[in-house]
Amino acid sequence: MAETVVLAYSGGLDTSVAIPWLSEQGYDVVAVAADLGANLDLAAIQEKAVKIGARRCYVVDARAMFAERFIRPALNANALYEGQYPLSASLSRPLIAELLVAVAHREGADAVAHGCTGKGNDQVRFDVAIGALDPSLTVVAPVREWAFSRDAELEYADAHGVPVPVTRQSPYSIDVNLWGRSAEGGAIEDPGAPVPEDAYAWTVSPQACPPEALSVQLTFESGTPVALNGEHLSLWELIDRLNGLAGSRGVGRIEMVENRLVGIKSREVYEAPAAIALITAKRALEQLVLTRDLYQLRASLEGQYAALAYNGLWYSPARLALDAFMLEATRSVTGEVTLLLDHGQAIVAGRTAAGSLYNPGLATYSLHDTFDHKAAKGFVDLWGLPIRTLAAIHPLADPDAENWPFSILEPASRA
Ligand code: ARG
Repeated sequence: MAETVVLAYSGGLDTSVAIPWLSEQGYDVVAVAADLGANLDLAAIQEKAVKIGARRCYVVDARAMFAERFIRPALNANALYEGQYPLSASLSRPLIAELLVAVAHREGADAVAHGCTGKGNDQVRFDVAIGALDPSLTVVAPVREWAFSRDAELEYADAHGVPVPVTRQSPYSIDVNLWGRSAEGGAIEDPGAPVPEDAYAWTVSPQACPPEALSVQLTFESGTPVALNGEHLSLWELIDRLNGLAGSRGVGRIEMVENRLVGIKSREVYEAPAAIALITAKRALEQLVLTRDLYQLRASLEGQYAALAYNGLWYSPARLALDAFMLEATRSVTGEVTLLLDHGQAIVAGRTAAGSLYNPGLATYSLHDTFDHKAAKGFVDLWGLPIRTLAAIHPLADPDAENWPFSILEPASRA
């Protein structure tokens, strides 16, 4: 009996061609397709996989699971890779890896397969995650192994009854889920040229937005958004709706040259309207409720969290430990934030929280000031003590009067 391989199937050309290719390697192919918020026609994908030669095809609506178990902790960490990318594709691979392993166990399979190339980050995320979840499984990556040119792939598809798209495909490689849409390849590859407008699909060009800003109110409970404009929604639904609202005002366009784990710099385009709006709003609330120490410590770990997710280390003790920290750090992040979505910007228009540490008496410059100005003198004296001690033996700077372009006005000399 042929060995079973469980293939992560998208319905696209590469993973479709992988079905006859894996069969020719002697595998019995079981396909798995998941909707993570791309609005897929799962029934059509299922039918296609079986028609091409898969023994069976599992499909799953994984939107809620993706939001709860992958987006929620990443948002809790305000995770942005290299300060810009909210990690939409990065977060989805560990979920798909779990799905592959679960189906492999159900099917008694010893191998799983994915459609990643050898140049990207996604192969790393799949391979490392699968190894973490079940190190006994063999991972097959057909696209990494076969040596097809584009034309050879189309010819192979034709010869093996794989429907070849008749309409011109997008010139870009696209990956879509609730947390964002990514595009790479084609004209995007020239970092010296502006991103072609047709690379965007979720966002209105900031120049073409309606003149009036759109105001949205977000309610957070312990770091998690729970309501949009007062309406309580599950996390995935809230993200889905916010993508539409913020995208309509051009919010969430990200252009970057990013450092891939495999050593390549690549020009990437992301659209992440909800992710950018939510991270902006959550930071605004953190400014209000976190102590200075915690605010700065939490922020200092954002980049490390993002790098772990980006670099395929989702299932690692380091990520789990950071999750525990972020959970504790955002326990008090409860309150409301109003954002103005306007011509590509998400601008904070207000924030309130029962646990606010903002003290109007301390902050104000008005008559109602309660701050003890005299106490500041002693504090500043001690704060500067080490510097004065050092300066007494070794001046730290030497202001030279000759270097200043003084203009000096003296009283007219009295005659
Ligand atoms: N560069 C991004 C990342 O590494 C996006 C990858 C998207 N994948 C794709 N097959 N288009 O996370």
